[in-house]
Amino acid sequence: MTGRVGQVVLREAVTDDLPALLDLESAAFPSDGYRLKDFATALEDAGLLALVAEESETVVGFLVCQESGGALHLIDSVVAPAQRGGGIGGALVHRALEMSGARAAWAETRVTNCAARKALEALGFRVERRVCGYYDAPAEDALLLALGARSRDRGNADERTNHGC
Ligand SMILES: CC(C)(COP(=O)(O)OP(=O)(O)OC[C@H]1O[C@@H](n2cnc3c(N)ncnc32)[C@H](O)[C@@H]1OP(=O)(O)O)[C@@H](O)C(=O)NCCC(=O)NCCS
Repeated sequence: MTGRVGQVVLREAVTDDLPALLDLESAAFPSDGYRLKDFATALEDAGLLALVAEESETVVGFLVCQESGGALHLIDSVVAPAQRGGGIGGALVHRALEMSGARAAWAETRVTNCAARKALEALGFRVERRVCGYYDAPAEDALLLALGARSRDRGNADERTNHGC
Protein backbone atom coordinates (compact mmCIF):
# COMPACT_ATOMS: atom_id res chain seq x y z
CA MET A 1 0.00 0.00 0.00
CA THR A 2 1.46 3.34 -0.99
CA GLY A 3 0.43 6.93 -0.37
CA ARG A 4 1.74 10.31 -1.43
CA VAL A 5 2.41 13.77 0.02
CA GLY A 6 3.41 16.14 -2.79
CA GLN A 7 6.29 14.47 -4.61
CA VAL A 8 6.98 12.18 -1.66
CA VAL A 9 5.81 8.57 -1.82
CA LEU A 10 4.88 6.81 1.42
CA ARG A 11 5.24 3.01 1.37
CA GLU A 12 6.08 0.07 3.56
CA ALA A 13 9.82 -0.39 4.17
CA VAL A 14 11.66 -3.30 2.54
CA THR A 15 15.04 -4.90 3.21
CA ASP A 16 16.76 -2.71 0.59
CA ASP A 17 15.83 0.33 2.69
CA LEU A 18 17.85 -0.84 5.72
CA PRO A 19 21.04 1.17 4.96
CA ALA A 20 19.02 4.36 4.44
CA LEU A 21 17.07 3.80 7.67
CA LEU A 22 20.29 3.28 9.57
CA ASP A 23 21.86 6.43 8.07
CA LEU A 24 18.89 8.60 9.07
CA GLU A 25 18.75 7.05 12.54
CA SER A 26 22.45 7.31 13.35
CA ALA A 27 22.56 10.95 12.21
CA ALA A 28 19.57 11.81 14.44
CA PHE A 29 20.43 9.57 17.41
CA PRO A 30 24.20 8.88 17.42
CA SER A 31 24.32 7.45 20.94
CA ASP A 32 21.07 5.59 21.60
CA GLY A 33 19.34 4.96 18.29
CA TYR A 34 18.02 1.81 16.66
CA ARG A 35 20.70 -0.47 15.28
CA LEU A 36 20.61 -2.52 12.11
CA LYS A 37 19.21 -5.59 13.88
CA ASP A 38 16.40 -3.50 15.38
CA PHE A 39 15.34 -2.30 11.93
CA ALA A 40 15.69 -5.82 10.51
CA THR A 41 13.39 -7.08 13.28
CA ALA A 42 10.91 -4.30 12.54
CA LEU A 43 10.71 -5.46 8.93
CA GLU A 44 10.36 -9.15 9.83
CA ASP A 45 7.89 -8.79 12.71
CA ALA A 46 4.33 -8.87 11.38
CA GLY A 47 3.22 -6.99 14.50
CA LEU A 48 5.31 -3.96 13.58
CA LEU A 49 4.66 -1.49 10.77
CA ALA A 50 7.64 0.25 9.16
CA LEU A 51 6.92 3.00 6.62
CA VAL A 52 9.33 5.06 4.55
CA ALA A 53 8.92 8.40 2.77
CA GLU A 54 10.74 8.39 -0.56
CA GLU A 55 11.54 11.37 -2.79
CA SER A 56 13.22 10.92 -6.17
CA GLU A 57 14.09 7.34 -5.14
CA THR A 58 15.82 8.53 -1.96
CA VAL A 59 14.48 7.58 1.46
CA VAL A 60 13.96 10.90 3.30
CA GLY A 61 12.09 9.66 6.35
CA PHE A 62 10.64 6.69 8.18
CA LEU A 63 8.29 5.65 10.95
CA VAL A 64 8.32 2.40 12.93
CA CYS A 65 5.18 1.72 14.95
CA GLN A 66 3.06 -1.04 16.47
CA GLU A 67 -0.72 -1.39 16.65
CA SER A 68 -2.19 -3.10 19.67
CA GLY A 69 -5.76 -3.08 20.94
CA GLY A 70 -6.76 -0.26 18.59
CA ALA A 71 -3.91 2.04 19.64
CA LEU A 72 -0.81 2.81 17.61
CA HIS A 73 2.51 3.15 19.46
CA LEU A 74 4.92 5.39 17.53
CA ILE A 75 8.27 3.78 18.29
CA ASP A 76 10.75 5.61 16.11
CA SER A 77 10.60 8.27 13.40
CA VAL A 78 13.18 10.41 11.65
CA VAL A 79 12.92 12.82 8.72
CA ALA A 80 16.09 13.97 6.91
CA PRO A 81 17.13 17.43 8.23
CA ALA A 82 16.66 19.16 4.86
CA GLN A 83 13.07 17.92 4.62
CA ARG A 84 11.94 18.68 8.19
CA GLY A 85 8.98 20.97 8.68
CA GLY A 86 7.52 20.00 5.31
CA GLY A 87 4.81 17.71 6.58
CA ILE A 88 6.54 14.36 5.99
CA GLY A 89 6.63 13.33 9.67
CA GLY A 90 2.95 14.11 10.05
CA ALA A 91 2.06 12.36 6.80
CA LEU A 92 3.83 9.18 7.96
CA VAL A 93 1.77 9.17 11.17
CA HIS A 94 -1.48 9.75 9.26
CA ARG A 95 -0.62 6.95 6.86
CA ALA A 96 0.18 4.55 9.69
CA LEU A 97 -3.12 5.38 11.43
CA GLU A 98 -4.95 4.79 8.16
CA MET A 99 -3.19 1.48 7.42
CA SER A 100 -3.49 0.09 10.94
CA GLY A 101 -7.07 1.23 11.53
CA ALA A 102 -6.00 2.45 14.97
CA ARG A 103 -8.29 5.03 16.59
CA ALA A 104 -5.77 6.21 19.16
CA ALA A 105 -2.00 6.62 19.29
CA TRP A 106 0.77 7.33 21.74
CA ALA A 107 4.45 8.15 21.70
CA GLU A 108 7.31 9.02 24.02
CA THR A 109 9.85 11.73 23.39
CA ARG A 110 12.73 13.26 25.33
CA VAL A 111 11.55 16.24 27.38
CA THR A 112 14.07 18.44 25.52
CA ASN A 113 13.00 17.28 22.02
CA CYS A 114 10.90 20.32 21.15
CA ALA A 115 10.65 19.48 17.44
CA ALA A 116 9.16 16.05 18.14
CA ARG A 117 6.79 17.45 20.75
CA LYS A 118 5.62 20.25 18.42
CA ALA A 119 5.20 17.85 15.52
CA LEU A 120 3.11 15.49 17.67
CA GLU A 121 1.04 18.32 19.13
CA ALA A 122 0.37 19.65 15.62
CA LEU A 123 -1.17 16.24 14.89
CA GLY A 124 -3.44 16.52 17.93
CA PHE A 125 -1.34 14.58 20.45
CA ARG A 126 -1.42 15.95 23.99
CA VAL A 127 1.03 15.49 26.83
CA GLU A 128 -0.27 12.84 29.23
CA ARG A 129 2.55 12.60 31.72
CA ARG A 130 6.27 12.70 32.33
CA VAL A 131 8.12 9.39 32.73
CA CYS A 132 11.15 9.74 34.99
CA GLY A 133 14.45 8.22 33.85
CA TYR A 134 12.97 6.74 30.67
CA TYR A 135 16.01 7.35 28.46
CA ASP A 136 19.69 6.42 28.73
CA ALA A 137 22.71 7.91 26.93
CA PRO A 138 22.12 10.61 27.92
CA ALA A 139 19.83 9.93 30.85
CA GLU A 140 16.64 11.96 30.55
CA ASP A 141 12.94 11.90 31.36
CA ALA A 142 10.34 11.27 28.66
CA LEU A 143 7.05 12.90 27.86
CA LEU A 144 4.24 10.50 27.04
CA LEU A 145 1.93 12.05 24.46
CA ALA A 146 -1.39 10.57 23.38
CA LEU A 147 -3.88 11.09 20.58
CA GLY A 148 -7.52 10.15 20.98
CA ALA A 149 -7.06 9.03 24.56
CA ARG A 150 -8.47 10.65 27.64
CA SER A 151 -5.97 13.02 29.12
CA ARG A 152 -5.31 12.66 32.82
CA ASP A 153 -4.67 15.91 34.62
CA ARG A 154 -3.57 17.56 31.39
CA GLY A 155 -3.25 21.11 32.70
CA ASN A 156 -0.79 20.15 35.39
CA ALA A 157 1.05 17.83 33.03
CA ASP A 158 1.61 20.69 30.56
CA GLU A 159 2.91 22.92 33.32
CA ARG A 160 5.31 20.30 34.68
CA THR A 161 6.61 19.35 31.27
CA ASN A 162 7.08 22.66 29.50
CA HIS A 163 10.82 23.01 28.84
CA GLY A 164 10.60 26.16 26.81
CA CYS A 165 9.21 24.37 23.75
C1 LIG B 1 10.15 14.81 14.77
C2 LIG B 1 10.27 14.76 13.23
C3 LIG B 1 10.19 13.30 12.78
C4 LIG B 1 9.05 15.55 12.65
O1 LIG B 1 9.10 15.39 11.24
P1 LIG B 1 8.72 16.63 10.30
O2 LIG B 1 8.60 16.11 8.92
O3 LIG B 1 9.68 17.75 10.52
O4 LIG B 1 7.31 17.04 10.89
P2 LIG B 1 6.21 17.87 10.14
O5 LIG B 1 6.79 18.71 9.06
O6 LIG B 1 5.12 16.93 9.77
O7 LIG B 1 5.79 18.85 11.32
C5 LIG B 1 4.56 18.76 11.95
C6 LIG B 1 4.36 20.05 12.75
O8 LIG B 1 5.40 20.21 13.73
C7 LIG B 1 5.95 21.49 13.63
N1 LIG B 1 7.40 21.42 13.89
C8 LIG B 1 8.27 20.51 13.40
N2 LIG B 1 9.52 20.79 13.87
C9 LIG B 1 9.40 21.89 14.67
C10 LIG B 1 10.32 22.68 15.44
N3 LIG B 1 11.63 22.42 15.45
N4 LIG B 1 9.84 23.73 16.13
C11 LIG B 1 8.54 24.04 16.10
N5 LIG B 1 7.61 23.34 15.39
C12 LIG B 1 8.05 22.29 14.68
C13 LIG B 1 5.70 21.90 12.20
O9 LIG B 1 5.65 23.31 12.10
C14 LIG B 1 4.36 21.30 11.91
O10 LIG B 1 3.32 22.09 12.41
P3 LIG B 1 2.15 22.62 11.45
O11 LIG B 1 1.56 21.40 10.81
O12 LIG B 1 1.25 23.33 12.38
O13 LIG B 1 2.85 23.50 10.46
C15 LIG B 1 11.57 15.44 12.75
O14 LIG B 1 11.67 16.70 13.34
C16 LIG B 1 12.83 14.64 13.07
O15 LIG B 1 13.23 13.76 12.32
N6 LIG B 1 13.48 14.94 14.22
C17 LIG B 1 14.72 14.24 14.64
C18 LIG B 1 14.41 12.81 15.08
C19 LIG B 1 13.39 12.80 16.20
O16 LIG B 1 13.49 13.55 17.17
N7 LIG B 1 12.42 11.89 16.07
C20 LIG B 1 11.32 11.77 17.01
C21 LIG B 1 11.72 10.95 18.17
S1 LIG B 1 10.42 10.89 19.41
